[in-house]
Amino acid sequence: MSDVRLQTEIKAFDDTEAYLELMARPYTRRLKAEVDKYMASLDLRDAVILELGCGISEHAHRFNKDNMMIVTDITKSLVEKNEPPSTRAIVDAQVFPFKDKAIDFIIFVGILHHLPDQVKSLLEAARVCRPNGRIFICEPHRMSINFIYYTLRLLVMKIMGAGFVKKLIGCFTPDEVQLDVRAVERIFAGDFARHKWTILSFRLPPLRLFRNSKLDVTLSDFFDRLPVFNRIGTTVFYDIKRFK
Ligand SMILES: C[S@@+](CC[C@H](N)C(=O)[O-])C[C@H]1O[C@@H](n2cnc3c(N)ncnc32)[C@H](O)[C@@H]1O
Repeated sequence: MSDVRLQTEIKAFDDTEAYLELMARPYTRRLKAEVDKYMASLDLRDAVILELGCGISEHAHRFNKDNMMIVTDITKSLVEKNEPPSTRAIVDAQVFPFKDKAIDFIIFVGILHHLPDQVKSLLEAARVCRPNGRIFICEPHRMSINFIYYTLRLLVMKIMGAGFVKKLIGCFTPDEVQLDVRAVERIFAGDFARHKWTILSFRLPPLRLFRNSKLDVTLSDFFDRLPVFNRIGTTVFYDIKRFK
């Protein structure tokens, strides 16, 4: 990753106030509730767990007691907000400093869409994941209303500049894209089994203006139950298991 691109990410996420505001939005809390539900279903002991782009990890506390939890991010100020006994490290999520088949559980929540080379990161996850290990992914889904917002954002950025868009949206980085679902499905074939699902089929434009509105969550909770809608939620999840 070029230094310029890394610095842009770090600058955006060094703004802890904007980061916390994004994390507090009802839309974010709804998707985090889904992540929590998944994490609570796991029974992990003596496992080595790696979280990439952890920010202020919401998962470390759950696993710290019986496992070795390694929380990593490129933004130093965020990594440092995580408490020991988690092992904390500054790591670019495109290059994992771990040996092959060394990790039992790998967590990507809202990070792959910040990387210029998602494929590199996914291949690294496939490399370090142990047999019987798991990989969890939660990212923005391109095949959803997100795609419209993303395209509009690019247009406004072109006309008005990234600074203007930041004022409207809050915490974001100009180079964000959405998850490369095809790459996930190509890389995690063969030795892996995948389960995919989506949530939050309805979303208000991701503007600061709507930061306290629960309308999108309320409507999604209704629409997500309907066939078709439950395939085009704005957040896509993968639970991937390595069986050999
Ligand atoms: C939207 S936040 C998600 C934080 C956390 N995973 C969560 O969902 O609460 C994106 C995170 O990715 C980190 N990040 C961006 N580029 C990265 C890179 N190349 N390597 C590692 N982390 C990166 C940012 O510093 C930030 O903490």
